Amino acid sequence: MAIARETPSWDRLFAERTRGDVGEGIAAVLGLLGRPDLISFAGGFPDPLTFPRERASELLGEFAAAGESTAFQYAPTRGLAGPLDALAARLHALQGRRPADDELLITSGAIEALELVGKSFLDRGDLVVVEGPTYLGAIMAFRSFEAEILAVPMDDHGLEVDELERRLVDGLRPKLVYTVPDHQNPAGVSLSRERRELLVELARRHGFLIVEDVAYRELGFDDDVEPSLWSLAPDVVLQAGTTSKTLFPGVRLGWAVGPADVSAQLVAAKQNTDQCAGALGQRLFEEYVRRGWIDEQLVQSRSLYRRKCERMLAALDRYMPAGTRWTSPKGGFFSWLTLPDGVDAGDLARRAVERGVAVVPGSLFFPDDRGDNNVRLSFSLVDEAVIDDGIERLASLATS
Ligand SMILES: Cc1ncc(COP(=O)(O)O)c(C=O)c1O
Repeated sequence: MAIARETPSWDRLFAERTRGDVGEGIAAVLGLLGRPDLISFAGGFPDPLTFPRERASELLGEFAAAGESTAFQYAPTRGLAGPLDALAARLHALQGRRPADDELLITSGAIEALELVGKSFLDRGDLVVVEGPTYLGAIMAFRSFEAEILAVPMDDHGLEVDELERRLVDGLRPKLVYTVPDHQNPAGVSLSRERRELLVELARRHGFLIVEDVAYRELGFDDDVEPSLWSLAPDVVLQAGTTSKTLFPGVRLGWAVGPADVSAQLVAAKQNTDQCAGALGQRLFEEYVRRGWIDEQLVQSRSLYRRKCERMLAALDRYMPAGTRWTSPKGGFFSWLTLPDGVDAGDLARRAVERGVAVVPGSLFFPDDRGDNNVRLSFSLVDEAVIDDGIERLASLATS
């Protein structure tokens, strides 16, 4: 006789640390990306116009014709020797410092680097300081290790490092301070030179690790770039980088570079995460670097994103009601909008979808309950031709 069984409720078996609601937020954002009917300023995805389809296919053909097995095989946990060498040379060229072999590892995207940092450093209740607002993926990564997350405010020059200093003097003891110093996600601002110098000094004085996320560093609209925190202080900075915005995200490739003992800990953590980043992506990246293709692609990407950004900023100027403010990015993918008093961003985002426009409400980028009157606008993926229309529609809703 068949016994009827109820489908088990897996919810009650899920680990407690996975029960936070921040994951739903990102799922909602990604959900909007799948809607071709929307003019989307929502996701921070690269424009497919930058994807090097022909060159990628040429390289795959070359690997196959040469009988190469490395690209198709498992790789060492730290990364393949050739791609590591190409990456180290690139860091030297772009940031003025070549990492030693035991300071660098290749990861499956920057998000994995953050995950490995969390796995290596965080016990339940440990404190992580982030910028307020900050990258949602970082909040999620650190939360998954049950860390306490505290957001220190930002202004147009990035993290308010003097405010952080005050709190450290008052007894704040973070293990990690996470920052996106260049063209930040979501605020679109960069950390000033003086603040960079103070931040690394604070790390040395108070004994915390700076986690520097350089996801948008190579996407400045002009050539002005401040020194990376890692180049200023390789003794107290772990830099997480990615090729997602410079090559393409389909290879899920990034890096972590930092003090040798931290790097060894991350390699150990990676052994029981994915064991190694995909060799195929590593080899593609190596060839892109060695042939100078990545730099050629960057010239085009930077000018495309600059054009889109200028168009969006001009439309904001033209259409937004008085009392609205926004940041003026010098690179990256984002501008951060502050709405007039009394306009709720969550409500605006919902009404915007009804008018065919997608944006992300600011509260998703804070670990606390701030951001109610902010919206993140991404100009990277939206079709240039509809930017004006999208901003005009959004502006018509941005009055209380
Ligand atoms: C600040 C920041 N860090 C990391 C990432 C993710 O990088 P990856 O695709 O390499 O995991 C993103 C992507 O949106 C980002 O904005």
